[in-house]
Amino acid sequence: MLVTRAIFPVAGLGTRFLPATKAQPKEMLPVVDKPLIQYAVEEAYAAGVRQMIFVTGRHKRPIEDHFDMTFELEVALEQAGKEELLKVVRSVKPDDMECIYVRQAQALGLGHAVLCGQRLVGDNPFAVLLADDLMVGEPPVMQQMVEQFEEWRVSILAVQEVPAEQTRRYGIVAGTPINERLLDVTGIVEKPAPEDAPSRLGVAGRYILTPGVFHEIATQQRGVGGEIQLTDGIAALLRREKVFAYRYEGKRFDCGSKEGFLEANVALALEHPQLGPGFRAYLKSLDI
Ligand code: UTP
Repeated sequence: MLVTRAIFPVAGLGTRFLPATKAQPKEMLPVVDKPLIQYAVEEAYAAGVRQMIFVTGRHKRPIEDHFDMTFELEVALEQAGKEELLKVVRSVKPDDMECIYVRQAQALGLGHAVLCGQRLVGDNPFAVLLADDLMVGEPPVMQQMVEQFEEWRVSILAVQEVPAEQTRRYGIVAGTPINERLLDVTGIVEKPAPEDAPSRLGVAGRYILTPGVFHEIATQQRGVGGEIQLTDGIAALLRREKVFAYRYEGKRFDCGSKEGFLEANVALALEHPQLGPGFRAYLKSLDI
């Protein structure tokens, strides 16, 4: 297995979700019954990743607590004979999964957050998952990407078609098609205006990167919004290495925005084995 480490940048300020994110991390917002970060960690685990590296900041303690063993809770559930709930609680951190935390002292941008994981990643390829992009896919999106990486051994960016008026929200790639799902990336720009966008393929919050990207991020000037951008590091990497964009199979919910978060809750609640049927009936009963 080649990709065994993943970086979860969770040090952002989450301003689009204020006031909910004033004193708690947006990655702990629950979609139905699980915090966003747990969906992302489960996706990485399913893809074979075992070392989870969280780049945290102020107010992010609840994330660390979530992946710790909660001894008193487990004892209480055991004594109450609540086996099912005990299983749910224990499954949050399987025994063969390691959680490591590194601080980003100042939110200087996504590229800078990824750079904070450099010493822990070393000279290995690694995944990056942005937990506020909740991905639903079968097989899980990161697993699809790991399969591509194993075949091609180059950095892989998850992309999707985005509406022309939304290019300003994404890193946008240009490339030459290799097959139905893969492009050989020739350029990438962060948050372009629609008239400057080289395509409508926007990067979603899933990446597999080669360690060469660290050097490129470290030597970049600040980019859009005065932040150290991951996109600029990838654009520089392109001059030395191949980078592929992969049109993943699945659906993405932008849970960093209130609309996307609400949509994710409705979609996942409808799919939920226990809650689904009742929730569907409730929605049907609404006179809207
Ligand atoms: P966003 O662009 O969504 O920024 O970051 P944000 O601060 O979290 O949210 P808004 O835009 O203010 O509402 C994308 C990802 O990068 C992480 C965030 O936690 C998020 O997962 N990030 C961003 C960092 O870890 N550090 C940073 O300096 C910036």
